[in-house]
Amino acid sequence: MAIVQPSVFLKLQSGKLTGDQVLKSQKKLKDLEGVFQDEQIRAALPQESLIYEVQAFMPIAEGKSGGLFFGNSTIYPGKIGAEYHMTRGHFHSNLDTGEYYWGVKGEGILIMMDEDRNVWAEEMSEGSVHYIPGKVAHRVANVGEELLVFNACWPSDAGHDYATIAEKGFAARLVEVDGEPKLVDS
Ligand code: F6R
Ligand code: ZN
Repeated sequence: MAIVQPSVFLKLQSGKLTGDQVLKSQKKLKDLEGVFQDEQIRAALPQESLIYEVQAFMPIAEGKSGGLFFGNSTIYPGKIGAEYHMTRGHFHSNLDTGEYYWGVKGEGILIMMDEDRNVWAEEMSEGSVHYIPGKVAHRVANVGEELLVFNACWPSDAGHDYATIAEKGFAARLVEVDGEPKLVDS
């Protein structure tokens, strides 16, 4: 019986995944129309600027139940007006499915919103562990001066509902007020 090498490695210092099966995607400013409060500022900034990148290891078909996916997200520092760089955010299409996020490096804030549009947030930093329950939309903002890196693990049948957030947004936004991150009603 052969003892083989794993096909994917996690670089613990950087949170990055390596291996042939690791999928990669990038979100540039041009891909984030309507995500930030000030669409005029977003549209006027260089559209090729990289805002965040995601790596994912998805060893079974997406949508099949019983499996787990593993990911890495890196958000570049910066703001669009007063609002920090952040992910689009989503509910899972299979609403009951939860997710773990954990901080690897940098300073972030995980913003969550339930179906009644109640919003709350958790500080994210190296080693912070975040349980995102089912039926809860989630997005992360980089509130520091460096890269924000976090990893994630979610069920293979979770799916992603971006449309609800694209249509209705989150009920609160994370903006800089007097040099500090504040959650304000949107
Ligand atoms: C997976 C998950 C993360 C995000 C990633 C990018 O369920 O929550 O891997 O997909 O942080 O954010 P979105 O997908 O909102 O653009
Ligand atoms: Zn998710």
